[in-house]
Amino acid sequence: MSRFSEPQDPVFAQLNTSIGFDWRLGPYDVEQSRAHATMLAAQGIIADADRDALLAGLDRVAGELEAGTFEVEPGDEDIHMAIERRLTTLVGPVGGKLHTARSRNDQVATDVAMFTRAHALRTLERLQALQSALVLCAERHLDWPMPGYTHLQRAQPVYLSHHLLAYFWMFRRDARRFEAVLGGTDELPLGAGALAGVNFETDRAFVARELGFASVARNSIDAVSNRDFVLDFLSAAATCATHLSRLGAEIVLWSSDEFGFAQVSDAWASGSSIMPQKKNPDAAELLRAKAPRIAAHLVALHGVLHGLPLTYNKDMQEDKEHLFDAVDTLDLCLAAARGMVETIGFDRERLAGAASDELIAATDVADLLVRRGVPFRQSHGIVAGLVKLAVDSGRPLSALTREEIAVQSDALDEEYYTVLQSSSWLEGKVSEGGTALPRVREQLAHARAELDGQPA
Ligand code: ARG
Repeated sequence: MSRFSEPQDPVFAQLNTSIGFDWRLGPYDVEQSRAHATMLAAQGIIADADRDALLAGLDRVAGELEAGTFEVEPGDEDIHMAIERRLTTLVGPVGGKLHTARSRNDQVATDVAMFTRAHALRTLERLQALQSALVLCAERHLDWPMPGYTHLQRAQPVYLSHHLLAYFWMFRRDARRFEAVLGGTDELPLGAGALAGVNFETDRAFVARELGFASVARNSIDAVSNRDFVLDFLSAAATCATHLSRLGAEIVLWSSDEFGFAQVSDAWASGSSIMPQKKNPDAAELLRAKAPRIAAHLVALHGVLHGLPLTYNKDMQEDKEHLFDAVDTLDLCLAAARGMVETIGFDRERLAGAASDELIAATDVADLLVRRGVPFRQSHGIVAGLVKLAVDSGRPLSALTREEIAVQSDALDEEYYTVLQSSSWLEGKVSEGGTALPRVREQLAHARAELDGQPA
């Protein structure tokens, strides 16, 4: 029997169905059903024989899902109904007992929480692998000078290792965000029923333990309407993808002839269909371009959830494609970033050449004056005058005469020329987190300790 006297309009059915994408929840759905059936029997809500039949049937469903032989039928609205339908075909009417004390509302919230947790864990592994690759790459290029930039203008020289490690810390923060996502998935929705709880003495704590949730959601109304953990995942993913886009963008710049700092390996580049000489850093470009797509998924889900009255609304079915695409896209990007970092080659000469531009030492000259007692703000102006003189007369700073520098400040002497010798620029940055080699080594040790799970 059904309360409806007309069949669904096919267009409505097409709009309403989620089986085309929520099949990915299948393994989680089976796992939660196993725990649910076990709990129902332990609580005396169903007979032990019913539980055994359900578990045996669920094993077969799981086998079919894994083997790819599970068949979706035209009437299957979503994965939850498809699994129950198949289970009932396999074990008979007892299959209909599985949905005792459960609604699709707490069921789907539970599946999605499990899916999110599993993929947050996988993302953490991917991040760890990328961070390791960055540390190794930094170790290989420990003392390679390069220009550091602000406004994409050469600013101060740094070591390439220092620059690469900047990304290590970015991805470390991302890992922290994904660890926080795990916390958000840790309260079991199942047992909330449609919204108000169920008419049976269930044991939610048992189900939580079986499924690896730390606790049960305290409020059934909140439990079925909560998708914060998806927002959390998407938010962490969007930030991580934005970081990847910055790495990708730098690789694109570095591998241009104009920079000539780096070459991605052939395995991460493609050619042009018309220009035989081209080697394009497509993978890096795509890292750059995928980020807004993931951010858009976050914005879209905020759009879906904002203003939604409690509790479950069909709108919430729209959480999945955003989540799934973000999961897949980020996973691919993290794997690609790792592969590129592992195989990228740098041009030591080009980097060093760009880092030896004397103008890059302007701050060091200003600091020389500071050590002579000149207030920094004043020394900044004095050096700006020297830079103007040098640039206007087409000479490097070191070609200015003793008389010319003395005109700018009587605190300047021979040491001005010493400071302009490039060896001191990098090793002078001795402050914690700075580019002097002992500090980079110290940073590397911290990074290694983070990777080993023993942060200082
Ligand atoms: N496919 C649905 C979703 O993804 C499952 C929950 C359906 N619940 C309901 N009351 N219609 O949200």
